[in-house]
Amino acid sequence: MTSGNLLTDNPELYEARFPDPERLAGRWAEDCLRRYGSAPHVLDLGCGTGRDAAHLHAMGRSVVGADLSEAMLTYACDRHPGPRYVRADLRDFSPDVLGTPDTPGASGVFDAVVCLDSALLYCHTNDDLDGFLASCRRSLVPGGLLVAEMRNGAYFLGRDDLLNTPRYNSLTWQGVSYRSATTLRIDRTAQLLRRGRVWTADDGSAPVEQHSAWRLLLPQELRHFLTAHGFTVLELHDGPGPRTEPPWQEGDLPGTAADADRLHVVARLAD
Ligand SMILES: C[S@@+](CC[C@H](N)C(=O)[O-])C[C@H]1O[C@@H](n2cnc3c(N)ncnc32)[C@H](O)[C@@H]1O
Repeated sequence: MTSGNLLTDNPELYEARFPDPERLAGRWAEDCLRRYGSAPHVLDLGCGTGRDAAHLHAMGRSVVGADLSEAMLTYACDRHPGPRYVRADLRDFSPDVLGTPDTPGASGVFDAVVCLDSALLYCHTNDDLDGFLASCRRSLVPGGLLVAEMRNGAYFLGRDDLLNTPRYNSLTWQGVSYRSATTLRIDRTAQLLRRGRVWTADDGSAPVEQHSAWRLLLPQELRHFLTAHGFTVLELHDGPGPRTEPPWQEGDLPGTAADADRLHVVARLAD
Protein backbone atom coordinates (compact mmCIF):
# COMPACT_ATOMS: atom_id res chain seq x y z
CA MET A 1 0.00 0.00 0.00
CA THR A 2 1.39 3.45 -0.90
CA SER A 3 0.08 6.81 0.23
CA GLY A 4 -0.49 10.02 -1.66
CA ASN A 5 -3.33 12.03 -3.07
CA LEU A 6 -4.29 10.29 -6.28
CA LEU A 7 -6.85 12.97 -7.16
CA THR A 8 -4.82 16.14 -6.60
CA ASP A 9 -1.77 14.41 -8.15
CA ASN A 10 -3.86 13.48 -11.22
CA PRO A 11 -6.18 16.41 -11.96
CA GLU A 12 -7.62 14.68 -15.01
CA LEU A 13 -8.72 11.82 -12.78
CA TYR A 14 -10.18 14.41 -10.37
CA GLU A 15 -12.36 15.81 -13.14
CA ALA A 16 -13.37 12.28 -14.21
CA ARG A 17 -14.36 11.42 -10.62
CA PHE A 18 -16.18 14.72 -9.99
CA PRO A 19 -17.51 15.78 -13.39
CA ASP A 20 -19.22 19.14 -13.77
CA PRO A 21 -19.88 19.28 -17.52
CA GLU A 22 -22.48 22.03 -17.16
CA ARG A 23 -20.17 24.15 -15.00
CA LEU A 24 -22.81 24.31 -12.31
CA ALA A 25 -20.36 25.45 -9.62
CA GLY A 26 -18.97 28.25 -11.80
CA ARG A 27 -22.45 29.31 -12.85
CA TRP A 28 -23.68 29.35 -9.25
CA ALA A 29 -20.69 31.49 -8.21
CA GLU A 30 -21.28 33.87 -11.12
CA ASP A 31 -24.95 34.14 -10.13
CA CYS A 32 -23.95 35.14 -6.57
CA LEU A 33 -21.45 37.70 -7.89
CA ARG A 34 -24.09 39.23 -10.17
CA ARG A 35 -26.81 39.25 -7.51
CA TYR A 36 -24.63 41.43 -5.31
CA GLY A 37 -23.22 43.56 -8.13
CA SER A 38 -19.58 42.47 -7.90
CA ALA A 39 -17.05 44.24 -10.12
CA PRO A 40 -14.91 41.93 -12.33
CA HIS A 41 -11.65 41.10 -10.48
CA VAL A 42 -12.04 37.67 -8.87
CA LEU A 43 -9.70 35.45 -6.87
CA ASP A 44 -10.58 31.71 -6.87
CA LEU A 45 -8.93 30.18 -3.78
CA GLY A 46 -8.27 26.43 -3.86
CA CYS A 47 -9.05 26.62 -7.58
CA GLY A 48 -8.12 22.97 -8.24
CA THR A 49 -8.26 22.09 -11.94
CA GLY A 50 -9.24 25.68 -12.83
CA ARG A 51 -12.60 24.84 -14.40
CA ASP A 52 -14.56 27.31 -12.25
CA ALA A 53 -11.94 30.04 -12.63
CA ALA A 54 -12.08 29.54 -16.40
CA HIS A 55 -15.87 29.72 -16.38
CA LEU A 56 -15.74 33.05 -14.52
CA HIS A 57 -13.13 34.23 -17.03
CA ALA A 58 -15.47 33.22 -19.89
CA MET A 59 -18.18 35.32 -18.22
CA GLY A 60 -15.96 38.36 -18.73
CA ARG A 61 -14.27 38.42 -15.34
CA SER A 62 -10.61 38.92 -14.76
CA VAL A 63 -9.56 35.96 -12.63
CA VAL A 64 -6.60 34.71 -10.61
CA GLY A 65 -6.79 31.06 -9.51
CA ALA A 66 -4.68 30.04 -6.50
CA ASP A 67 -3.92 26.55 -5.20
CA LEU A 68 -1.24 24.73 -3.21
CA SER A 69 -0.94 21.81 -5.63
CA GLU A 70 1.61 22.26 -8.44
CA ALA A 71 -0.06 19.42 -10.38
CA MET A 72 -3.42 21.20 -10.24
CA LEU A 73 -1.89 24.52 -11.30
CA THR A 74 -0.02 22.97 -14.25
CA TYR A 75 -3.20 21.23 -15.40
CA ALA A 76 -5.26 24.42 -14.95
CA CYS A 77 -2.81 26.42 -17.11
CA ASP A 78 -2.91 23.74 -19.85
CA ARG A 79 -6.58 22.78 -19.82
CA HIS A 80 -8.46 25.79 -18.49
CA PRO A 81 -6.53 28.79 -19.80
CA GLY A 82 -7.66 32.38 -19.39
CA PRO A 83 -7.16 33.04 -15.68
CA ARG A 84 -3.70 33.55 -14.25
CA TYR A 85 -2.73 30.73 -11.88
CA VAL A 86 -0.47 31.13 -8.86
CA ARG A 87 0.69 28.95 -6.00
CA ALA A 88 -0.60 30.23 -2.66
CA ASP A 89 -1.74 28.81 0.67
CA LEU A 90 -5.27 29.94 1.36
CA ARG A 91 -4.55 29.93 5.11
CA ASP A 92 -2.03 32.75 4.80
CA PHE A 93 -1.35 34.67 1.62
CA SER A 94 -0.36 38.17 0.77
CA PRO A 95 -1.75 40.26 -2.11
CA ASP A 96 1.88 40.54 -3.28
CA VAL A 97 2.09 36.85 -4.25
CA LEU A 98 -1.15 37.00 -6.21
CA GLY A 99 -0.69 39.87 -8.63
CA THR A 100 -3.66 40.61 -10.84
CA PRO A 101 -4.71 38.76 -14.00
CA ASP A 102 -3.31 41.56 -16.12
CA THR A 103 -0.30 42.65 -14.08
CA PRO A 104 1.41 39.64 -12.47
CA GLY A 105 3.93 41.76 -10.58
CA ALA A 106 1.37 44.08 -9.02
CA SER A 107 -0.18 43.69 -5.62
CA GLY A 108 -3.46 41.84 -6.16
CA VAL A 109 -6.62 43.56 -5.04
CA PHE A 110 -9.87 41.83 -5.89
CA ASP A 111 -13.56 42.64 -5.98
CA ALA A 112 -14.46 39.12 -4.87
CA VAL A 113 -12.98 35.91 -3.49
CA VAL A 114 -14.61 32.59 -4.34
CA CYS A 115 -13.76 29.36 -2.53
CA LEU A 116 -15.65 26.31 -3.79
CA ASP A 117 -16.17 22.66 -2.89
CA SER A 118 -15.02 22.79 0.73
CA ALA A 119 -11.60 24.33 -0.03
CA LEU A 120 -12.24 26.69 2.92
CA LEU A 121 -12.47 23.65 5.23
CA TYR A 122 -8.75 22.99 4.73
CA CYS A 123 -8.56 25.66 7.44
CA HIS A 124 -8.47 23.07 10.21
CA THR A 125 -7.79 25.31 13.19
CA ASN A 126 -9.18 28.64 14.39
CA ASP A 127 -5.79 30.19 13.59
CA ASP A 128 -6.10 28.87 10.00
CA LEU A 129 -9.58 30.41 9.70
CA ASP A 130 -8.29 33.72 11.08
CA GLY A 131 -5.38 33.54 8.61
CA PHE A 132 -7.73 32.85 5.70
CA LEU A 133 -10.10 35.70 6.54
CA ALA A 134 -7.31 38.18 7.34
CA SER A 135 -5.69 37.30 3.98
CA CYS A 136 -9.02 37.71 2.15
CA ARG A 137 -9.51 41.06 3.83
CA ARG A 138 -6.06 42.27 2.72
CA SER A 139 -6.82 41.14 -0.85
CA LEU A 140 -10.32 42.59 -1.20
CA VAL A 141 -11.47 46.10 -2.01
CA PRO A 142 -13.73 47.69 0.63
CA GLY A 143 -17.21 46.25 0.01
CA GLY A 144 -15.67 43.18 -1.71
CA LEU A 145 -17.48 39.84 -1.61
CA LEU A 146 -16.62 36.39 -0.30
CA VAL A 147 -18.57 33.53 -1.94
CA ALA A 148 -17.97 30.04 -0.54
CA GLU A 149 -19.54 26.60 -0.74
CA MET A 150 -18.64 23.65 1.48
CA ARG A 151 -19.80 20.76 3.62
CA ASN A 152 -22.02 21.73 6.54
CA GLY A 153 -20.70 20.66 9.93
CA ALA A 154 -24.21 20.98 11.40
CA TYR A 155 -25.38 18.10 9.20
CA PHE A 156 -23.43 15.66 11.38
CA LEU A 157 -25.14 16.72 14.62
CA GLY A 158 -27.30 13.69 15.37
CA ARG A 159 -26.82 12.03 11.96
CA ASP A 160 -24.41 9.23 11.08
CA ASP A 161 -25.69 8.13 7.67
CA LEU A 162 -22.49 9.34 5.95
CA LEU A 163 -20.13 8.08 8.66
CA ASN A 164 -18.01 5.03 9.52
CA THR A 165 -19.10 2.77 6.62
CA PRO A 166 -17.11 2.59 3.37
CA ARG A 167 -18.75 3.97 0.22
CA TYR A 168 -17.59 2.49 -3.05
CA ASN A 169 -17.12 4.15 -6.39
CA SER A 170 -15.74 2.88 -9.71
CA LEU A 171 -14.44 4.63 -12.75
CA THR A 172 -12.35 3.90 -15.79
CA TRP A 173 -9.60 6.35 -16.68
CA GLN A 174 -7.04 5.96 -19.46
CA GLY A 175 -8.02 2.30 -19.90
CA VAL A 176 -7.54 1.42 -16.22
CA SER A 177 -10.47 0.56 -13.93
CA TYR A 178 -10.22 2.19 -10.50
CA ARG A 179 -12.27 1.40 -7.42
CA SER A 180 -12.31 3.63 -4.37
CA ALA A 181 -13.53 2.86 -0.86
CA THR A 182 -14.11 6.04 1.13
CA THR A 183 -14.83 6.19 4.84
CA LEU A 184 -15.68 9.33 6.80
CA ARG A 185 -15.31 9.58 10.53
CA ILE A 186 -15.57 12.36 13.06
CA ASP A 187 -12.61 13.47 15.16
CA ARG A 188 -14.42 15.38 17.90
CA THR A 189 -11.26 16.57 19.65
CA ALA A 190 -9.87 18.27 16.54
CA GLN A 191 -13.39 19.14 15.28
CA LEU A 192 -12.54 17.55 11.95
CA LEU A 193 -14.29 15.27 9.51
CA ARG A 194 -11.56 12.78 8.58
CA ARG A 195 -11.66 10.92 5.27
CA GLY A 196 -9.77 7.73 4.48
CA ARG A 197 -9.84 6.52 0.89
CA VAL A 198 -8.27 3.39 -0.57
CA TRP A 199 -7.85 3.17 -4.35
CA THR A 200 -7.33 -0.10 -6.14
CA ALA A 201 -6.70 -0.44 -9.85
CA ASP A 202 -6.84 -3.38 -12.24
CA ASP A 203 -3.39 -2.62 -13.72
CA GLY A 204 -1.45 -4.55 -11.07
CA SER A 205 -0.33 -1.41 -9.19
CA ALA A 206 -0.30 -1.37 -5.40
CA PRO A 207 -3.36 0.05 -3.63
CA VAL A 208 -3.06 3.73 -2.72
CA GLU A 209 -4.32 4.95 0.63
CA GLN A 210 -4.97 8.62 1.21
CA HIS A 211 -6.13 10.63 4.18
CA SER A 212 -7.51 14.12 4.34
CA ALA A 213 -9.71 16.14 6.64
CA TRP A 214 -12.13 19.02 6.65
CA ARG A 215 -12.95 21.38 9.48
CA LEU A 216 -16.39 20.64 10.91
CA LEU A 217 -17.59 24.21 10.76
CA LEU A 218 -21.01 25.11 12.17
CA PRO A 219 -23.04 27.84 10.47
CA GLN A 220 -23.14 30.14 13.50
CA GLU A 221 -19.42 29.60 14.05
CA LEU A 222 -18.76 30.66 10.45
CA ARG A 223 -20.98 33.71 10.92
CA HIS A 224 -19.00 34.63 14.04
CA PHE A 225 -15.62 34.36 12.26
CA LEU A 226 -16.88 36.44 9.34
CA THR A 227 -18.31 39.16 11.57
CA ALA A 228 -15.13 39.30 13.66
CA HIS A 229 -13.15 39.93 10.46
CA GLY A 230 -15.37 42.81 9.30
CA PHE A 231 -17.72 40.92 6.95
CA THR A 232 -21.50 41.20 6.87
CA VAL A 233 -23.22 37.91 6.07
CA LEU A 234 -25.62 38.37 3.15
CA GLU A 235 -26.60 34.69 2.76
CA LEU A 236 -25.90 31.56 4.79
CA HIS A 237 -27.92 28.51 3.80
CA ASP A 238 -27.89 24.85 2.81
CA GLY A 239 -29.15 25.29 -0.73
CA PRO A 240 -29.94 25.18 -3.46
CA GLY A 241 -26.32 25.04 -4.57
CA PRO A 242 -24.13 23.32 -7.15
CA ARG A 243 -23.71 20.16 -5.05
CA THR A 244 -27.18 19.88 -3.46
CA GLU A 245 -29.94 17.49 -4.40
CA PRO A 246 -31.79 18.80 -6.34
CA PRO A 247 -29.02 21.01 -7.68
CA TRP A 248 -29.30 24.78 -8.09
CA GLN A 249 -30.71 26.03 -11.39
CA GLU A 250 -30.63 29.49 -12.93
CA GLY A 251 -33.32 31.62 -11.30
CA ASP A 252 -33.32 29.70 -7.97
CA LEU A 253 -33.11 31.96 -4.93
CA PRO A 254 -31.04 31.19 -1.80
CA GLY A 255 -32.77 29.23 0.94
CA THR A 256 -32.87 30.12 4.63
CA ALA A 257 -32.25 26.80 6.46
CA ALA A 258 -28.77 25.45 7.29
CA ASP A 259 -29.64 21.83 8.02
CA ALA A 260 -28.59 19.75 4.99
CA ASP A 261 -25.07 18.62 4.14
CA ARG A 262 -23.86 21.64 2.14
CA LEU A 263 -23.35 25.21 3.30
CA HIS A 264 -23.30 28.29 1.06
CA VAL A 265 -22.22 31.71 2.19
CA VAL A 266 -22.01 35.15 0.63
CA ALA A 267 -20.51 37.90 2.79
CA ARG A 268 -19.46 41.47 2.14
CA LEU A 269 -16.42 43.20 3.59
CA ALA A 270 -17.23 46.50 5.28
CA ASP A 271 -16.77 49.62 3.14
C1 LIG B 1 -11.93 19.67 -3.29
S1 LIG B 1 -10.74 20.54 -4.26
C2 LIG B 1 -11.77 21.84 -4.88
C3 LIG B 1 -11.22 22.41 -6.16
C4 LIG B 1 -12.11 23.45 -6.83
N1 LIG B 1 -12.36 24.59 -5.97
C5 LIG B 1 -13.39 22.81 -7.30
O1 LIG B 1 -14.45 23.18 -6.76
O2 LIG B 1 -13.35 21.97 -8.22
C6 LIG B 1 -9.78 21.39 -3.03
C7 LIG B 1 -8.58 22.12 -3.59
O3 LIG B 1 -8.00 22.86 -2.54
C8 LIG B 1 -6.59 22.78 -2.66
N2 LIG B 1 -6.01 23.07 -1.35
C9 LIG B 1 -5.97 22.27 -0.26
N3 LIG B 1 -5.37 22.91 0.75
C10 LIG B 1 -5.03 24.15 0.30
C11 LIG B 1 -4.39 25.26 0.87
N4 LIG B 1 -3.99 25.23 2.15
N5 LIG B 1 -4.19 26.35 0.10
C12 LIG B 1 -4.59 26.38 -1.20
N6 LIG B 1 -5.21 25.35 -1.79
C13 LIG B 1 -5.42 24.25 -1.05
C14 LIG B 1 -6.32 21.38 -3.18
O4 LIG B 1 -5.05 21.29 -3.81
C15 LIG B 1 -7.49 21.20 -4.15
O5 LIG B 1 -7.14 21.61 -5.44
